[in-house]
Order: sequence, then C-alpha cells, then structure tokens
Amino acid sequence: MTIKKLLRIGDPVLLQKSEPVEEFNTPELNQLVQDLFDTMEAFDGAGIAAPQIGVLQRVVVFDVKNNPRYPGRDPVPRTILINPTIDYLSQEIVDDWEGCLSVPGMRGLVPRHTHIRYTGYDQYGEKIDREVTGFHARVVQHECDHLYGVLYPQRIKDMTQFGYKDELFPDEEITT
Ligand code: NI
Repeated sequence: MTIKKLLRIGDPVLLQKSEPVEEFNTPELNQLVQDLFDTMEAFDGAGIAAPQIGVLQRVVVFDVKNNPRYPGRDPVPRTILINPTIDYLSQEIVDDWEGCLSVPGMRGLVPRHTHIRYTGYDQYGEKIDREVTGFHARVVQHECDHLYGVLYPQRIKDMTQFGYKDELFPDEEITT
C-alpha cells in the first residue's frame, strides 16, 4: 500500500498535458494503477488522475459508493481508464458541486455535460466503451480534464460559488 504525495493547485505540473500510455500490463503501469487507488482511497476521493501524483500519463481511476465527500450521489463503478476519449451526446449542461484532492477543503459549482460516451482501455489493454449520464458523466469529465492540465476552478462560471467546504456547507461534517 503506497499513498503518494498529492500535488496541489499552484504546482505547475498540474497544468501540463499528459502523454498516452503505449504499453499495457507492464509492472510500471500496474504499480501506477495501484498507487492511484491507494491514494484516492486514503483521501476519500471519487477519482484521481495520474498527474495528481506527478505522473504525466493518460491514466485515471474512479470509484464511488457511499462516498462521504459526495453524499447522496449515484454510485460509479470502480474503473481504470487509460487513454480516454469523451463524446458529448447532448448539449445539455448542468451545474453541480465538485471538489478535487488537489484543491483540498474547497468546493465549486461546475457546469458539465449531462450525457456522454467515453472510451479507453483498462490496464490490461481491454477496451472500455460506455454511455453514461449524471454524476458518472461528471466524474469522468473532471478526471479527464486533469489529463489536459485543467482543474475544476478553471471551469467555474460564477466565482461566488467557490469556497471552503466548511464555509459553504457548515452543517456537513467532512471538510476535505
Ligand atoms: Ni480532481
């Protein structure tokens, strides 16, 4: 079990573009995937992208079930997504609150497409091709943004809807 140091907003590495993975099922890739899950779970993340632990490769993982940082959201299946693509299947966009392990303690209201198709590969090179909506679609868009050096505060349209979670939602217990 290896919990990696998380890069935080302000670190220029988070603004860089990641490179595609070219070889699957290598010891290095399998270790990276394990490190991502260990780190995500240690901090109750819904997802995490490789650049957040300083690795500029197109690898994200996510997994949501009863996450205390996102109460009441629909579950999202545990997924390893490598070299992802996203197509928007509707022009409909909705706002919802997001956080990020690289922006600790904060939340912002972020517009995202509601209905997407995403593709990619797992760590063994097996193809993934899914059509999803709602919170699942939001998590995929958030994580894939990291691969282009985009953090969610850059997507916020109304900066009055950005702040510390314990100030925005004083009645909720989790503050990370
Ligand atoms: Ni994030």
